[in-house]
Parts: sequence; structure tokens; C-alpha cells
Amino acid sequence: MIQRAKTEIAQRLTSLTGRPESEIYGFLEVPKVYEHGHLAYPVFALAKDKRRPPAELANELANELQGKIPGVKSIQAAGGFLNFTLTAEALQNWLWQSLKDPTVPLGHNQKLSGQTVVVDFSSPNVAKPMHVGHFRATIIGQAIRNLAEAQGARVIGVNHIGDWGTQFGKLAWAYQQWHREYDFTKDPIESLLQLYVRFHDEAEKNPELEKFGAETFLKLEKGDPDIRRIWKEMVDVSFVEYNKLYAILGTKHDVVLGESFYNDRQEDVIQRLQAKGLLRESEGAQVVFFDEKEKMPPCLIKKSDGASIYATRDLAAAIYRHDVQKADQILYVVGVDQSLHFRQVFRVLELLGYDWAKNCHHIVFGQYRFKDGKMSTRKGKVVLFEDLIYQAIEMVTKMIDEKNPGLANKDLIARQIAAGAVIFNDLINDRVKNVDFDWDRAVNTEGDSGPYVQYTNVRCKSILRKYGREVPGVLPRVLDTDEEQRLVFSLLQFGHVVDVAYRQFKPNVLAQYLLELCGHFSHFYHKNRILGEPGAVEASRIALVDATSRVLTAGLGLLNIPSPEAM
Ligand code: ARG
Repeated sequence: MIQRAKTEIAQRLTSLTGRPESEIYGFLEVPKVYEHGHLAYPVFALAKDKRRPPAELANELANELQGKIPGVKSIQAAGGFLNFTLTAEALQNWLWQSLKDPTVPLGHNQKLSGQTVVVDFSSPNVAKPMHVGHFRATIIGQAIRNLAEAQGARVIGVNHIGDWGTQFGKLAWAYQQWHREYDFTKDPIESLLQLYVRFHDEAEKNPELEKFGAETFLKLEKGDPDIRRIWKEMVDVSFVEYNKLYAILGTKHDVVLGESFYNDRQEDVIQRLQAKGLLRESEGAQVVFFDEKEKMPPCLIKKSDGASIYATRDLAAAIYRHDVQKADQILYVVGVDQSLHFRQVFRVLELLGYDWAKNCHHIVFGQYRFKDGKMSTRKGKVVLFEDLIYQAIEMVTKMIDEKNPGLANKDLIARQIAAGAVIFNDLINDRVKNVDFDWDRAVNTEGDSGPYVQYTNVRCKSILRKYGREVPGVLPRVLDTDEEQRLVFSLLQFGHVVDVAYRQFKPNVLAQYLLELCGHFSHFYHKNRILGEPGAVEASRIALVDATSRVLTAGLGLLNIPSPEAM
């Protein structure tokens, strides 16, 4: 990909300037304005070194290098920059070399090979429905999980479900009393929610219930088989719901290790904290205090009644991920409202002396804001994960019925487009910002949407089907029209874009790129006839259509968006 061009240029510049190749490589960037060339090298640092005016040095270097770098058509000095324009042949050769490489899937590299990345994502709370926050955590987390894999890492996607805590004592107790009155096969989470509400209503009349709840949780913690069975039932029925939604989004975790898993490991955390002299008593509870200047409230480790808490389980989880799962990086894809929690947890890990704490990252994201009236919420005020998905499927189905009623596999494709719509609509935004949720934009096949990218790919596939022959592996002609070159150059950047998207943990970098790529394809398609052109022209353009489709499929795939065959 574009990396190959950088290497060529960096080598020449190294021999000319004596600067290390890696440094020059690092400085070489794709200019923001296409007309400025394919790659630019800022000479400022070098000029400072040599005590020369940057513009003058750039001029001199441009003259010296002109015609001497394979694949470079021309070099312009502009201000303190060297702008390189590459030849059409070189661009296309680099692209097809990577397209043909069977050892690395498109967009993949080996930068994190040998490393393990744990991605904690989705992580709903058992017996409760997933809300919009979990929706975002699921979508963003899955994309980051895929991007980590594309960096060659061994990735463990973890569903850190909230399946522990005193509320499960209350629920289990309520379940024992009243479960016959509820139907846990149809809408199980709704029934569990009702049980929980009922427990609280009854507890107001009869405070003894709180005691029963606490006792039942204690039994659960000690492993009482009956209570454990009820608890397991609650987890299982919750997953029946979650899995339905995960299936539509194509979400895949490698393991489900919820908070309960760390129940037995909390004591170990407490001992480690004690050994370091970090635990203090405060109002009967065990806490870790932070230095005044850190401006953080103390991290609660054990409540006064002895019950453990969220933070302690997260400490145990981090230690497990590092020690047992051998994580080199731990990524927590969780809403911004838990920032303080993660700052505390990471800081406690540092205080414990674990320098690997610096490899723990809270991947925050903002909230969705819904325009009034646009989002129908069935269950009160909060918008649920399922509301978003089912609404998308409904809208897309209607759209298909209007535009393409005879479409084969309509249900499957409607789900694929709906997934594309909601996933892309999320990932196109810088995750840290709040999102003004706009349905019209999300499903519009002509706008900046997932369905638009999917549709561009469908169009490519349909051209390839009409062509009906094998796509040429060797190009019989140089792709030299403006639109062809623009498209080739855009395709060449795919690998780099994927790289940046992971390094910044920002899938929107990739989503944005895919939109731009579609724009370049569309220009090409409208200005350059494909089918029916003389042999070499047709064949070379078919190869370009195929390349576009492959990059779109790979790019969408990394965002976890399916590519339907037709729509
Ligand atoms: N279950 C939590 C919630 O819904 C999210 C858990 C995130 N992961 C973690 N390791 N704390 O708010």
C-alpha cells in the first residue's frame, strides 16, 4: 500500500540528508489537499539542523531528487515542503501487490503480533435490559476488537457482565417466592424487572425483606446450590435476550467473564492492598485514599457490611487479565459516566506497583441525544438497545418494500442493512462526542450512511456479476484517467487508515474514509464507462471495481457491518 511509496522515498532522502530512514518515513504524510501531490515531506526540522532557510533547502532537495526516485513522477518544493507526485504505474503496482498478497488479509498488518489485547465491551447488567449506553459499548467495542485483530494481536473480547452484587440476593429471594406468577420464556428480562420492582414495593411495607435479600446474597456468595441455580437461570434467560440482539449486530465475544467470576479473587486483591499498606478504614468501610493533588475521592474496596463492590471486582479483573490472560493492553469500552471509576481503578493498580497499569485504557464515549418525538420508547423514558435495532429493521423493511419489493432474501438483507445503518451511524462520529441521533440520516442510502456504503459495494458487485468473467489479476493497461487515479490512490490508503483508527481507538477514522472512498468510486463510475469498453480498458476498470469492492467489504467488516449481495 502507500507504505511502499514512503519506504522508497525515505531511502533516497536518507542517503541524501543523512537523517535516519525511520525519522523521514515518520514525517512523510499524505497532504490534505490532493492537488499538492501524493506525499509530502516537511523539511523544517532538517533545515533547522543544517541552519538553512526551509524554502531554500526544499528547492535544492527537489532539484537533486528530480527523476531519481523510482515511482515518483515529479517533486515540487512548496514553502518548506517537498511534494511528491507518484506515477500512475507505481500507484497501481503497489496497490495490486497488496491486493494479491495471500498471506495478509486486506487492511491487516503485524504491528501487534505476539501481543495480547483484552477488549472489555458491551458488558450489560443481568436481569436488566441493555440501554443506549450498552448499545454504543457494543458497537464501538466490537469495532475496536476487530481493529486490534487487524494489527495482528491475539484479541480476547470479554463480556464483563454485571451479574453480581446484593441485588441478586433480592432477586433470587423474590424468584423463590413468586416465580410461578411470571413467564420467563417470553420477554424474560421484563419479568425479572417486574420481580425486582415487586421486591422493592413489598420491602417498603415490610423492611424485613431487605434482610432476606442480604441473607440470600450471602448464600449465593458462599455457593449455596439452590440459590446458585436460580442465579444461573437469571443469567441464562438474560442471555437469551442479549443474544438475539447480538445476532443482529453480529457481535462476537470470545469469553463471558462477568463480575461473579471475580468473587473468589477479591480476597486476593484485598491482601495485595494490605501488603502494600494501602487499605484504610473510613466510616467502617475499607478504602484506598489518593494523594490530595489527585483530586479524587477514595476508592471504596469493601463496604462496612463486608459486601464487596464494583471497583474491587474490576481490580481483580484487571489483575486476572494481566496475570492469567497475559494481556499487554486492556481496553475498557464504557461510557464517559464511568470515567472516575476507571481513573480510580487504574490509579490503585499503579499504587500496587503494577507498571502495566499504563496499558489499561478507558475508551470513553458520549451519549445519544434524541430529537423529541422521533424515537418511540416503549418502556418509559429510556431508549433501549432493542428499540434502536427493531426500529431500524422496521424502517429498512419499509424502504425495501417501496424501492425493491421483489428482492430475494428480503428479511436477511433488511437485517444486514439495519445493522449497517445503526452501526455506521454510531461509528461515523468521534466517539467521545455526544451524538444527535437522526434516523433520516442513518438509513438514507444517498447520504453519509452505512446503507450508502453498502449500496456502493452492491453496485460494484453487480458490475462484476454483469461482467461475468474472471477479474484480471494483471492489469492490461495503466489506470490513468483522473478519476481512476484518484480512486487508486484512495484505495492505497486503506492500510494506513486502519492503522490510525486503531492507534487512536477511533473507528470514525475508518468510517470517514469509507465515505470518501465511495465518493471517489462514484466519480469514477459516472465519468468512466466500464462495461462495453475496448478489452484492455474494460478489463482494467473491472479490476479497479473489484479492488474497490474488496476494500469496502474489508473496511465494513472491520466496523462489523455486513456487505449484502443485493439491496
Ligand atoms: N456493567 C457495567 C454497566 O453496565 C459496565 C461494565 C464495564 N466493564 C468493566 N470492567 N467495569 O455499567
